[in-house]
Order: sequence, then C-alpha cells, then structure tokens
Amino acid sequence: MICTDDDIVATIAEIFTRRGAEAYLGEAVTVAEHMLQCGTLAQQAGAPDAVVAAALLHDIGHFTSEFGTYSPDDTIDRHHEAAGAALLARHFPPQVGAIVGLHVAAKRYLCAVEQTYHAALSKASQHSLDLQGGPMTADEVAAFEHLPHYRDAVLVRRWDDAGKVAGLPTMTFDDFRPLLARVINPA
Ligand SMILES: [Fe+2]
Repeated sequence: MICTDDDIVATIAEIFTRRGAEAYLGEAVTVAEHMLQCGTLAQQAGAPDAVVAAALLHDIGHFTSEFGTYSPDDTIDRHHEAAGAALLARHFPPQVGAIVGLHVAAKRYLCAVEQTYHAALSKASQHSLDLQGGPMTADEVAAFEHLPHYRDAVLVRRWDDAGKVAGLPTMTFDDFRPLLARVINPA
C-alpha cells in the first residue's frame, strides 16, 4: 500500500470500514471491534498518544500482509506484526511501528515471565502462540528487556488480550482521527 502521510489516516479509516467486519482469529469480536477496543482501553488508561495509536493499529498487519489473513487452520506463522510495523514505520514516529512489531513477542515474553498468563489467553491466541515460537527462553527474555519500547509493547499486549469482549462500547475510528493526526504531525 503506497500513500502519503496526509492520507494514511483516511486510508486506514477506509480499511476499517471496508474490511473491519471480518472475523478476528476465531474470537467473539470482529477485527475492527478488537482494534477499537484496544485503542479505547489504551486511551482510558491514559497512555501517551503514540502508545494509543499503536494499540489501535496493532493488528493492521492482518490487512496488509501479502501472506493474507490468519485462519485458525494455519500451520505457519504469518508475521502480521512485522507487516503492520513496516506499514506504520513509513508514516508514524518509530515508536509506533516498534511497539506494533513487538506485540507478538510480548505475548511470548509474558508467557515466559508470568505463570498465569498462558492459561488466561484465548484459545485462538494459545494456538497462534505455538506458531509464533511458544514462550521465550531465558536468553530471549533478557534480550527482549533490552529493546526500546518493550514495556509499551507489553502494555499493548495486555489491551490486545483484553480487547476481545463482544458488545463492549468503544470509541469510533473517527474519534481517534485527531490523535492519529497529532502523532503523525506533532505540533
Ligand atoms: Fe490483536
């Protein structure tokens, strides 16, 4: 997808409208509902604008990956986080793409460092974890904790896990447009 900084928000809004009703990973919410829930949870938590943007857009890679969208029948990992990070890096400050690029690693991280985390994941998320490499090793945990923005990626991961509630009221995509514009073009 090629577009300018000026129309990236409009382009994403159009993707939300056109494709947002697609099922999300076997969850009880659509992709758009899930992403809006994550963005709303980040906003409610008082996260900085760039982190809210990352939460809202963390799964945009499901729409841009040339490998197509995830299916519960997948037996290979499709790396939607890298596809999303690459798209966002072209238009947003580096922090946004970096957080999005780490949100799957953050799941592998939390599985390694929190005993109760894996059991609380949705079935679909447990399935994709296996494809994503399973819990991190101790060396991987140590390396992850040296990455810039890893704490923000863990925060986004927690909103990602929480944002799968059917019928949860959220902000609309339009509500986020001023924030996204601020993140792209800081005053
Ligand atoms: Fe997600």
